Amino acid sequence: MNAQQQIITWLTRGTFQRAELERLFVAFGGYGGAALRDDGEIHIYGSIQCACADEMASDHELSQFVEFIRKQRQSTCMDVFDAIEQRRAIKKFDPNHPVSDAQVMELFRLTLLSPTAFNMQNWRLLWLRDPALRQEMAKAFHGKGQAVDAPLLVLILADLAAWKKSPERYWMNAVEEARTRIVRNMDQYYRNHEQRQRDEAMRSGGLAAQTLMLAAKGMGLDSCPMIGFDFDMAAQLIRLPADHCIVMAVAVGKRLEAAPPRGGQLFLKTVVITDRFNE
Ligand SMILES: Cc1cc2nc3c(=O)[nH]c(=O)nc-3n(C[C@H](O)[C@H](O)[C@H](O)COP(=O)(O)O)c2cc1C
Repeated sequence: MNAQQQIITWLTRGTFQRAELERLFVAFGGYGGAALRDDGEIHIYGSIQCACADEMASDHELSQFVEFIRKQRQSTCMDVFDAIEQRRAIKKFDPNHPVSDAQVMELFRLTLLSPTAFNMQNWRLLWLRDPALRQEMAKAFHGKGQAVDAPLLVLILADLAAWKKSPERYWMNAVEEARTRIVRNMDQYYRNHEQRQRDEAMRSGGLAAQTLMLAAKGMGLDSCPMIGFDFDMAAQLIRLPADHCIVMAVAVGKRLEAAPPRGGQLFLKTVVITDRFNE
């Protein structure tokens, strides 16, 4: 059994002892996630796509990574209600508080669990990593502080044509009959319906952005969703393919200043319609 097969076996099994965890992360090259379970065992999550990494991490790096996951899960894991209430659009980030690559990978892994219609997974996450590109991108963001200072800036994109790009892969674990049916339905729903394709991009991208922001909050980080930038310039800088679109940007980091009081919340009775509108 090669390393990749071994990892897939582990992933299917789902529960690991510490020694297995360490071997897993050697093979992952550091990508993946883990949670301490009540019974003291470590539960691993990971993306099989990452399983081909063949670089060996040192013992020191591994133990640091294991420690990071432990601490993160133990000390900053936040109740989902608290995360929803405490997430705010933050305008000032601490440029000296980095977000590690392991944290970014964990954020992305969680974001990929967001729901999409037909399980199409049409979101794409563009990690603006290159400092020179970040500087260029700052112009597209008109030098706005949160986009410049945030250690992590992600463009949430969507592939408008995901519905027709080998759609069987979205249901590879389903039985063939179901897979064929869903793929046919997906084709019927989106083919020749450009508005639907774009709606789906925005729906999926919005859900992904919210998952990313809540996951960041859960990890003790803050965020700001943004559309206040030059989409055309950003698209050019990242060489956005013609069949993709930009949904929004999300800046992530540790806040330097708390958000001001909420701008003004609508009343439940304004927002919630029971059954139907009045005649
Ligand atoms: C799609 C979207 C785009 C936004 N764009 C910007 C932006 O460009 N700049 C900004 O400062 N805030 C932006 N915001 C933040 C909103 O102003 C903020 O979410 C709203 O006022 C509610 O505040 P809260 O997020 O702190 O609860 C955006 C929010 C969303 C959801």
